[in-house]
Amino acid sequence: MLNLGILISGRGSNMESILKSIKKKKIPINPAVIISNKSDAKGLGIAKKLGVAVEVIESKGFKGSRTEYDKKIIKVLTKYKVTPKNGLVCLAGFMRIVSPEFVKKYRNRIINIHPALLPAFPGLNSQKQALDYGAKVSGCSVHFVDAGMDTGPVIIQAVVKVDEKDTEKTLSKKILKEEHRIYPEAVSLFARKKIKVSGRRTKIS
Ligand code: GRF
Repeated sequence: MLNLGILISGRGSNMESILKSIKKKKIPINPAVIISNKSDAKGLGIAKKLGVAVEVIESKGFKGSRTEYDKKIIKVLTKYKVTPKNGLVCLAGFMRIVSPEFVKKYRNRIINIHPALLPAFPGLNSQKQALDYGAKVSGCSVHFVDAGMDTGPVIIQAVVKVDEKDTEKTLSKKILKEEHRIYPEAVSLFARKKIKVSGRRTKIS
C-alpha cells in the first residue's frame, strides 16, 4: 500500500476529509504522517485525535533557503516511508511554495487543492478574485504540483455557482464543501493507480 504524507499550515479541514475517508476504508492508502510548518496549526490536533503521526518543521525564523527547508520535509517524509517510489504527498492548505528540487524528486507524486477553477485565479484569495472579476461560476481544482504556482496538470475540478448575493465568506463555504468531496476522490484515484499523466493532460481510468 502507498504511504501518504499531508502538508498543512492551518485549519486542516481538507486533511480531515482525506483522513476520514481513509478511516472509512474508502481509500487504500496508509496515512503515514501529517507535517505542519506551523506549531499552532489547528489541523495538528485533528490529526492527533484521528491517531495519525504529526511532525512540525517550523518555517518561521528558518534561516536557510527554500531548498534547505524542503530537505527537512523530505527527511521526515522518508522517515515515514513516504518516498518517491511508494508515497503520495498532499498539500492541504500548505501556505508555502515548494522548491523545484522537491517537485523533481517526487515527480507527479505531489498534489494540491486550489479553491478556483484553474487556470483562473491562481495564488492567494482566489474566492475574492472570482467575486471581484464578476465570474458567474468558480469552484476548486485538484492538480499535480509542478515548479510553477498552481500550474500543474489538473486531476479533478468541481464547479460552484456564484450568486449575486455571495460574499467571500459564503462563496468560500460553498467551494470548501466541494473541496472536501473531490480531494479524497483524487487521493483515491491516485492510490488505485487510476491517473495517467501525459504532458499537461491527465487521463482517469
Ligand atoms: C482551502 O481552501 C484550500 O483550497 C486552500 O487553502 C484552504 C485550506 O483549508 N489551498 P484547510 O486548511 O484544508 O481547512
